Amino acid sequence: MISKIRTKLRYTFIHNIFIFFRYTLHDVLVIRMYRSMLRGYYKKALTYPFKSLVNRIKGRPKTVVIDIVSVCNLRCPLCSVPPDIARESTQKKHIDIDAYKKIIDSLAGFATDLSLVYSGEPLIHPKFGDIVGYTRERYFTNTITNATLMDDRRLSYIIDGLDYVQISYDGHSKKSFEAYRIGADFDKVKENIEKMMKARNASKVKLPLVTATFLINSFNETEVDAARSYLKGLGVDRFFAKPINLNVHRRSDGKGEEELVEWLPIENEVTLYDKIDEGLAFKDQKAPCSIWRSPVIRGDGEVLMCCHDLNNTVKIGNVIKEPFTRLWDTEGYLDIRNKAAARQHAMCKICGK
Ligand SMILES: C[S@@+](CC[C@H](N)C(=O)[O-])C[C@H]1O[C@@H](n2cnc3c(N)ncnc32)[C@H](O)[C@@H]1O
Ligand code: SF4
Ligand code: SF4
Repeated sequence: MISKIRTKLRYTFIHNIFIFFRYTLHDVLVIRMYRSMLRGYYKKALTYPFKSLVNRIKGRPKTVVIDIVSVCNLRCPLCSVPPDIARESTQKKHIDIDAYKKIIDSLAGFATDLSLVYSGEPLIHPKFGDIVGYTRERYFTNTITNATLMDDRRLSYIIDGLDYVQISYDGHSKKSFEAYRIGADFDKVKENIEKMMKARNASKVKLPLVTATFLINSFNETEVDAARSYLKGLGVDRFFAKPINLNVHRRSDGKGEEELVEWLPIENEVTLYDKIDEGLAFKDQKAPCSIWRSPVIRGDGEVLMCCHDLNNTVKIGNVIKEPFTRLWDTEGYLDIRNKAAARQHAMCKICGK
């Protein structure tokens, strides 16, 4: 019942007001300012409102996504950024630490947030600790992880350096979880999440803020509420049940819609698709596309149009050669963003956003 009401209210005015008071205000005052000061990062905390305002006025992005790893230990059948495809373009498994520093330096005075994940599993990077260390005093930093590789060393980087972490929790039984998260051990993932929450809850600053996402598919659709209760019981701050994208346009095995449709939930109404006579059609999305808010920088410095342009078909420039600040203001990039906002690029018709 509550799930149904939640689904109906998604992206409505009431939903936005709720989000503002429940998350945004709390996030700015408590997580960003108060807790960053407790960590000793005064400049980051105190300049945040000012930088955000300037960014908003100037139409600049809040978050920059950086692809630090293009390899993964799992093989999720509908992965939204398949590492094998991403690696073919960059030829890099892990971002070079010097390239990473150049990219970060080229963003100075611009974005306030960094998202250290795009394709692959970020915790695989052998220098994940150095990456977080170079970043944490200047940017609000987050990553997304499959939570399979959280040993004590990696856990310490997460607890000491990140402001946000998002875990993928796509099923609340061994059967459903392992059906989608191929290569993962459900019991180990639960053990890792429990260990992480224990460490986070015991930390003085109560960071990072932890979000869990649950991709709804035909194997796990009846387990959403149980997953939410379990994770909230551990202290996870936010839980989102997300519609799954079949990602037909991002596959290397050529499988089509008819072979993938079995993954779509039957009962659950959270879906990106309408069933039509010819097959499936994307519903009109109410959430705005992310191109203005969170550009993606590949491990070799190339700026991608958005998270869907895995192969860099739309050329923007390279931030190792030219500062991001300069690229963002070029007419070419502005034109690309405007066309995307009007869903005019070929890819915009098939991405689902
Ligand atoms: C590509 S993963 C990379 C991070 C990490 N390897 C993980 O799986 O959490 C980043 C995000 O993509 C989401 N994702 C993966 N497959 C998806 C799909 N078919 N539809 C929508 N989101 C998807 C995951 O839920 C996760 O939040
Ligand atoms: S764990 Fe993440 S990156 Fe790896 S295959 Fe699954 S969704 Fe893709
Ligand atoms: S609408 Fe276009 S620019 Fe926006 S996410 Fe989709 S493909 Fe990218």
